Amino acid sequence: MKNQNLRTVFNTFAIAFAMTSGIAMADVTAIGPLPPVPVNPDNAPTAARMALGQTLFFDNRVSGNGNMNCSSCHLPDVGWTLPSAFSIANEGFVERRNPPTLINVGHNKALIWDGRAPNLEKQALGSTMNPVHKGQNIEKLMQVLNSDPAIVAMFQAAYNSKPNPMTSAARWRYGSGISW
Ligand code: HEC
Repeated sequence: MKNQNLRTVFNTFAIAFAMTSGIAMADVTAIGPLPPVPVNPDNAPTAARMALGQTLFFDNRVSGNGNMNCSSCHLPDVGWTLPSAFSIANEGFVERRNPPTLINVGHNKALIWDGRAPNLEKQALGSTMNPVHKGQNIEKLMQVLNSDPAIVAMFQAAYNSKPNPMTSAARWRYGSGISW
């Protein structure tokens, strides 16, 4: 079915639903734009941090085998997910779940399908270390990142520090005392 036809079907359905459920049309259309994305005050986004995040998102060195990055399973061209029922997985593993889209993910109160990841930083690190996903060892990752002057410069600009387990996503695991 063409996109235009699909839109018409969904619009008709929405109007019919509003009429039968007694919801005033004004309520249906007045949702408005999303509020600003909530941010972790201890790691507020800056241009330098976003540039670093974007670089690491597409860098295969975040994976243990060096053959995968975040975009391997969250493809920008297909809504930051995969067009398959189940995610691909690290060599020797099978993933039973689909990668959720990352669009508007900063608004989610709990992450991944069972809600066990409480925020984006923990989720990013979890995915990096999870043997089913990228299976990376965090100390090895720090060595790899520190051996690249371009990445070191990006960390300096973003966190005024070279890559170390206490910067950005990895801090929680080593007890930085973050309470959010
Ligand atoms: C091997 C595939 C794979 C890779 C690589 C991967 N992800 Fe995912 N991602 C998944 C799957 C599968 C889930 C759902 C996991 C679950 O529910 O157990 C997920 C869930 C997420 C979520 C939660 C979304 C939500 O709405 O709950 C975020 C955020 C995320 N990934 C970010 C990342 C980032 C950042 C990276 C890179 C550091 C990454 N992912 C790498 C497969 C992957």
